[in-house]
Amino acid sequence: MTIRVGIAGLGTVGGGVLKVLAADAAHLAARAGRKDVKVVAVSARDKAKNRGVDLTSIAWEDNPIALASRSDVDVVVELVGGSEGTARELVSTALSNGKHVVTANKALLAYHGPELAAMAEKANVALKFEAAVCGGIPIVKALREGLIAYEISSLRGILNGTCNYILTEMEATGRAFNEVLGEAQRLGYAEADPTLDVGGGDTAHKLALLASLAFGTLPDIDAVDVSGIQNISPADIAFAAEFGYRIKLLGIAKRTSDGIEQRVHPAMVRARTPLAAVESSFNAVEVKAGEAGPFLFQGRGAGEGPTASAVVADIVDVARGAVSPAFGRPVAELKKPEKVMREGRISAYYLRFQVLDVPGVMASVSQHLADEGVSIDSMLQRGRSPGEAVSIVMLTHEAPHIAVERALKAIAASDKVFETPCMIPMETA
Ligand code: NAP
Ligand code: HSE
Repeated sequence: MTIRVGIAGLGTVGGGVLKVLAADAAHLAARAGRKDVKVVAVSARDKAKNRGVDLTSIAWEDNPIALASRSDVDVVVELVGGSEGTARELVSTALSNGKHVVTANKALLAYHGPELAAMAEKANVALKFEAAVCGGIPIVKALREGLIAYEISSLRGILNGTCNYILTEMEATGRAFNEVLGEAQRLGYAEADPTLDVGGGDTAHKLALLASLAFGTLPDIDAVDVSGIQNISPADIAFAAEFGYRIKLLGIAKRTSDGIEQRVHPAMVRARTPLAAVESSFNAVEVKAGEAGPFLFQGRGAGEGPTASAVVADIVDVARGAVSPAFGRPVAELKKPEKVMREGRISAYYLRFQVLDVPGVMASVSQHLADEGVSIDSMLQRGRSPGEAVSIVMLTHEAPHIAVERALKAIAASDKVFETPCMIPMETA
């Protein structure tokens, strides 16, 4: 039998999926054990836009929600984006009409995953989202199916291609953040609202989904502690290199005595380690899976080809009849995660201060840190500009987050300190 597909959204990802299905339908049908994998209907905003594929034999719906009610559609593929509005209505209508759904929409699932997964369970249809996390890397399938024998203790990774592209380019060229962001947008990596990328929100959406699959938690964006890369300067990247580190935006989820900790933040990662070597729009996820050992998944995390690859794999999975709980367990078994607060976290830190180059300023900064029990591992001051601003950079030994934050507040209050001090945790393990 033919599996009949309706696609909403024909942009970077949807356009890529159309191209793969147009070019390779026979091969994919054979892999799925079906007569054909056929796109029967599509929808986007602008019917006149060239999608690089002949659409004349495919029905066009001005309203994407109509795809969910077409009797000739078996699988609705949602590639519109956004956690509310069209995407949410399309997916919930499709599921309640008994259609399988494939989506790349991590924002939608991070906010409404449990409700949508429950609808899929009730209708006994698939809700698949491989493309929502790390583009072409099959990490969702790996966590849902491949790594279930042993308890997972932690996962951490580079989950956003836009941020990794920006940090890589800033390091390679010394260019500023905003210049490079525009490039990532032109390459099709960024979200419609790129503040989701650079503010860490997109990584948090993905982390909530990975944590759910790995630890059996409800995807819950409120349980993720998030900060982004907007304040990382070329100077921080250069100082990190001098100390033997690279700055990466990481998503980290781990078991702790307080529950499942989920956090997203820029981190100092030791140079020449596998994570530090992940460049450009590539993503990577390290998973510690008990006696199965540690794993490193790496590949292209954003853009047309990798993401279309993951969407097509899900469509073929559905065509093969793979229907199982979206998050690997029935929704009723998923547990609400607690937010593990950053204040109690212990870490070493990279600190940078812009200070007036006058005698005693270094001693004063060090004293404030000492007052909070924060011990300095190494430090450097670059340049000499008497009476002007210079950078002081310090690496601390492990200390409670709250103590470092208190010291920084006291330091920032000095009239010899300009700008908010920069504080980046070091991922030394
Ligand atoms: P995109 O290039 O902006 O494409 C969005 C598509 O949705 C466009 O075709 C647009 O129509 C259509 N659309 C928007 N609003 C619509 C509405 N109200 N009614 C009908 N169609 C509408 O976005 P994208 O990069 O492909 O991303 C799509 C989804 O994939 C998002 O959830 C995103 O988070 C996810 N994702 C993206 C990537 C990536 O690398 N780009 C990777 C993984 C996951 P027009 O073309 O006519 O304007
Ligand atoms: N904006 C996302 C990123 C797309 O840059 O990683 C892939 O999910």
